Amino acid sequence: DSHHAIDLVIFGALGDLAQRKLLPALYHLDREGLLSADTRIMGLARQNHDVVAFQKQVSKTLSTRIKSDEQDEQTLTRFFRRLDYRSLDFSQPEGFSAIRQWREGSLRPMVVYLSVGAKLYGDISHHLSESGSIGEEDRVVVEKPIGFDLASSEAINDAIGRVFPESRIYRIDHYLGKETVQNLIALRFANPLFGTQWNQNHISHVEITVAEKVGIEGRWGYFDEAGQLRDMVQNHLLQLVCLIAMDPPANLDADAIRDEKVKVLKALKPFTGESIGRDVVRGQYIAGTTDGQPVPGYLEEEGANAQSQTETFVAMKTQVANWRWAGVPFYLRTGKRMPEKLSQIVIHFRQQPHYIFDPDQRDLAANKLIIRLQPEEGMALQVLTKDSGLDKGMRLRPGPLHLDFNSAFPKSRIPDAYERLLLEVMKGQQYLFVRRDEVEHAWRWCDQLIDGWKTREMPPRRYPAGSWGPVASIAMITQDGRSWYEDY
Ligand code: BG6
Repeated sequence: DSHHAIDLVIFGALGDLAQRKLLPALYHLDREGLLSADTRIMGLARQNHDVVAFQKQVSKTLSTRIKSDEQDEQTLTRFFRRLDYRSLDFSQPEGFSAIRQWREGSLRPMVVYLSVGAKLYGDISHHLSESGSIGEEDRVVVEKPIGFDLASSEAINDAIGRVFPESRIYRIDHYLGKETVQNLIALRFANPLFGTQWNQNHISHVEITVAEKVGIEGRWGYFDEAGQLRDMVQNHLLQLVCLIAMDPPANLDADAIRDEKVKVLKALKPFTGESIGRDVVRGQYIAGTTDGQPVPGYLEEEGANAQSQTETFVAMKTQVANWRWAGVPFYLRTGKRMPEKLSQIVIHFRQQPHYIFDPDQRDLAANKLIIRLQPEEGMALQVLTKDSGLDKGMRLRPGPLHLDFNSAFPKSRIPDAYERLLLEVMKGQQYLFVRRDEVEHAWRWCDQLIDGWKTREMPPRRYPAGSWGPVASIAMITQDGRSWYEDY
């Protein structure tokens, strides 16, 4: 068959990510006919399960994660037949020979999915290599966070790199698997209308909001060491900045795209002591309400250290200091316990050079392109038209030219990010994965910001759960005569 047959091994197969995302994504790929008949999947975890117990667990997972009209017997039977399981202590070399044995005689490339903490990436790579399990075409997939700062991420990347060359390392940033995120590439580089306007001559500023309704969801221990800057900005938000700001790549090859993204990361203006105080706001939620229900503050969550100064919200005004973007602020904000789950990018175009309508309406007079990543993926372009009332004269009225993916293309199911990403790994295509230098430039920029926080002692400002963050984050943008855009 024409699909790319692989042997997939999932380290941490009973963990949260594997159960919540990977196995359901693999099921969907199978159902869509995108898994080769020969593809096999081996789960690895410490638990003393056998195959049958693993299949049972997966079956339970799929029955809750997959919509009932998407569960069909034929796919389920085929999918379960692919599964195998070994119990393994990842930190010890013994036992890795089981992987080599499993693959004996197989001509398929192996994909090693490390759905475990980054601390283990080095050990696992080493044991795989020492046990003779790694072949010339085998690939490794790793998840963020890759380290905690530049130094630790270099150490992890070095350890993986001793076993796998860069061309076979797939670093996941699941935002790159989101349909609308990839649409940024199509939008910018397939549409001359936007292609010619995409620079500081025509764009006044850019806003990126990644708001989450959830709080810490039982992950306090991990999250408190990281905070929102490391957990969300270092990776997801900076990737969005890259896709918005990059120059057109010469083609769609992985390195052509990633070379351009790296240039953006290098051009990010570092925060200086003074601009940190002015252009960055850290926040931490206190008790408040979500959907009308009272919810605890960050310091009252289970397992919390009441002294923590970790941020659960960050807003900043940053700049891409190059010819295309000189003088165009990029306002970024992301936080937990916001009023709704909303990820969107708003591109604000400049006003006309000469304005002839009602002076009262001057503020309306700029086009906005709104790119909605979630929920309800879509795009809208705010344009001005004439208000149709007879008594309205030449009053203007803004309205959207609107593309809602679900209603415009009703038959196509919008796949989860992990489906797309797993498929690309199987095909051996890296353009949706993060290259080592991207991760490291992103860390360099974040590290210097975090250092600035430390030296200036910037404790987070409080915001009630269910609000849009500390008032200072609103002041930060209003003092520029602008506001965060929450409509669609
Ligand atoms: C993860 C973060 O990378 O992204 C989480 O670690 C966050 O803290 C999640 O909740 C958000 O992803 P999504 O796809 O729900 O926007």
